Amino acid sequence: MAAENQAVRRRQVYAGYQGKENPTEKDRIVHFMQMYRSTEHFNATFILPWIEVSPSEAVRGGLRIVQAREGVHARMMRERLRELGETTFVDVSEERKATQIPFFASPVRSDLEKMDMLVHIFDDLDDFFEPLTTLIDTIKEDLQTREMLRTILEDEYATVKWFLFIHKELSSGSV
Ligand SMILES: [Fe+2]
Repeated sequence: MAAENQAVRRRQVYAGYQGKENPTEKDRIVHFMQMYRSTEHFNATFILPWIEVSPSEAVRGGLRIVQAREGVHARMMRERLRELGETTFVDVSEERKATQIPFFASPVRSDLEKMDMLVHIFDDLDDFFEPLTTLIDTIKEDLQTREMLRTILEDEYATVKWFLFIHKELSSGSV
């Protein structure tokens, strides 16, 4: 729990491995992908109602692709987890769903408020993704998963680049 709070406070994509004393490479991969898949699935879930209520064509356009990307990431990690022998999947907490989904689905909250919430997660982008970058760098055996994670990471950088762009556009009132 302390590691999770620290990661949340430090805003990182993953709080680190929890489980066996001497985890194998596969143990570390499975734990990471279980946690990450749950977040990706959640992202795809809360972005959908946001698209429906956004008054901005520009925001809707970019969010449609970001939402689809998160859905693909979640689906592909679930597929890979199954191939690695997993049959059950971690989900984000009900508390998180209850607070975040209504916020992003709200027609009263502005796109700028919602984008503000997201861009501040990425204040230090490389540090935010450091747990994933490090995992990719340490994988020696499971090259398929390694390259799945590397290409997902590249997608995430593209997503954050667009968040920062559209946040600036929203802040200046040009969209
Ligand atoms: Fe993603």
